[in-house]
Amino acid sequence: MECLKREWLRGMKTYMLPPKPKKVLARLHMNENPYPPPPKVIEAAKKAAENGNLYPDPERLWKLRELAAKYYRVPGPEWVLPTLGSDTALRLAFECCALASEIALPFPSFQAYPALAGAAGAKLNYYDLRIEENRFVLDLEGFKETNGDLAVIDSPNNPTGSLLLDEEGLEELAESFPAVLVDEAYAEFAPYSLTENVENYKNVLFTRTMSKAFALAGFRMGFLISNPTYIENISKMVLPYDIPSMTVEAAIAAMEDPSYSKEYIEYVNKEKKRLKEKVEALGWKAFESYTNFVLVKAKEGVVEALRERGIMVRRVPLGKEWFRVSIGKPEEMKLFYEAIEEI
Ligand SMILES: Cc1ncc(COP(=O)(O)O)c(C=O)c1O
Repeated sequence: MECLKREWLRGMKTYMLPPKPKKVLARLHMNENPYPPPPKVIEAAKKAAENGNLYPDPERLWKLRELAAKYYRVPGPEWVLPTLGSDTALRLAFECCALASEIALPFPSFQAYPALAGAAGAKLNYYDLRIEENRFVLDLEGFKETNGDLAVIDSPNNPTGSLLLDEEGLEELAESFPAVLVDEAYAEFAPYSLTENVENYKNVLFTRTMSKAFALAGFRMGFLISNPTYIENISKMVLPYDIPSMTVEAAIAAMEDPSYSKEYIEYVNKEKKRLKEKVEALGWKAFESYTNFVLVKAKEGVVEALRERGIMVRRVPLGKEWFRVSIGKPEEMKLFYEAIEEI
């Protein structure tokens, strides 16, 4: 391709999803909320679809920013940029803060980072997480020595489920790196979130998503949260009509009454305990998780055997015995428990 100015794209791998079996009986590989959004949210999206001939109304986007600021407990709408999924928020942050430079991040981390960093022409410098009993830990002293114009931490971390950062840790990183991005996609499942501390920093960005606790993965709604100067400048990368009206209206309806996610979060936290018991009864290992999935160390061949039975789990880059399993509906979990006992 003659016009390709981002030369580095030539050598990059395409982000690939695992192959789908013929029959999927349990979708436990995407960390999705297995329940549909509530009727009010679907109604709002349907109503927006009836005006699908019109461009999205920028005032409604502002309304969403106000609601999001309240929900994420940040000072105001000018601190929040709505994006098409938090993937887009990550992309914007990578391109603005690490274009053709370097990113420091833990290993393992969210598997989309290499594609997003690749697009920005940024080199990834990984720092290995350490296993401490049944969780993964980020050693800050070592991590701070890693080169990066931007440090990217997903906390809680995907795929380990561990919480990697607390307030003091973030303060240290903000002093050590030119910029820090904290991806809190799973914060709703954790005992605390750091997003509300955004006011304390000039060089920290957060990403949040409505794909998990809010069950809006298919709508694609995420946010970039940072100080208004960053947000104002990064906003120049996006046009006012980027997010479909259906998505904006669904997100507004969801944010107006966020309580519906509570029941799902409680269910996830209860089921994670059951999963741990079942897995450990087989002599395998289940890691502590502050997300809607659990990291398991089993034995080689389990992922394939599950896939043959129509049960999708996700491989992780730690070795062939490891996989990540999302908390699905009770009937999906039943299939999973029966299958692992058989295997
Ligand atoms: C850590 C992490 N960040 C971001 C995302 C992307 O979420 P979204 O659906 O908002 O693009 C995911 C999705 O699984 C994730 O695990």
